[in-house]
Amino acid sequence: MAKIISVANQKGGVAKTTTTVNLGAALAEARQRVLLIDLDPQAHLALSLGVNPDDLDASTFNVLTDPAFSLSGILVKVLDGLALAPADINLSVAESRLSGTIGREQVLRDKLRDVSAHYDYILIDCPPSLGLLTINALTASHSVLIPVQAHYLSMKGMQLLVETIHLVRDKLNPGLAVLGILLTMVDIRTRVSNQAMDAVRTMFGDKVFQTVIRQNTKVIEASAMGMPVLETARNSPPALAYRRLAQEILGG
Ligand SMILES: Nc1ncnc2c1ncn2[C@@H]1O[C@H](COP(=O)(O)OP(=O)(O)OP(=O)(O)O)[C@@H](O)[C@H]1O
Ligand SMILES: [Mg+2]
Repeated sequence: MAKIISVANQKGGVAKTTTTVNLGAALAEARQRVLLIDLDPQAHLALSLGVNPDDLDASTFNVLTDPAFSLSGILVKVLDGLALAPADINLSVAESRLSGTIGREQVLRDKLRDVSAHYDYILIDCPPSLGLLTINALTASHSVLIPVQAHYLSMKGMQLLVETIHLVRDKLNPGLAVLGILLTMVDIRTRVSNQAMDAVRTMFGDKVFQTVIRQNTKVIEASAMGMPVLETARNSPPALAYRRLAQEILGG
């Protein structure tokens, strides 16, 4: 059975999608069978992997809103050992479609049952909100990985996220763990970045990954090319960092 990890933070632009893509690619390189699930209507995960959401016949929207649709019916192979369940803009109405249905928080968990045995890791790229899509992701997951942008740390935002995780644990998914907090877009030359890193380590202690992801333009170039930075700049600092993160996760 796959280990299912939500990559979540309601704050926008903290590198959730970048982390899903590149951690996924790093795990696949380490011979893990990996499935990436796009739960964001922006469909940036699909775009970052060279899949045009406008060309899709079906997406995670159909899987979540139509009982007849299975996840295996929408999978796209992107690289060796790396599959994608893409989103498209239709997903933006999934929350309102689901809101009146019984078991609305467990839809993704139930859909994952069919495919889980085929993978070692399933990573879910969450949208920047704590709405029903993110709640579905957290309910379906064994653990949550929280990317935090070292530059613009919002402790209030972190508190709200932690409260949501506790709520999901109490009501829906008692086994949900925090896998770790990942410091992203770190610029060690700036004081704000270093202060933010210290604050996160003080608050969350050993829950913070040893690996930090530094700011690097290779990441932006890679996503514009529709590929993981591990492919476009194999030995660049962010590629090496995401490989180290994968080793941290595989190791413990
Ligand atoms: N290490 C990095 N160095 C430089 N730029 C980065 C890095 N990581 C991510 N970025 C860039 O920052 C922007 C936001 O990243 P990303 O889309 O992964 O964040 P997100 O949390 O998924 O955003 P959203 O909340 O909108 O889904 C993107 O343009 C991405 O290319
Ligand atoms: Mg994103």
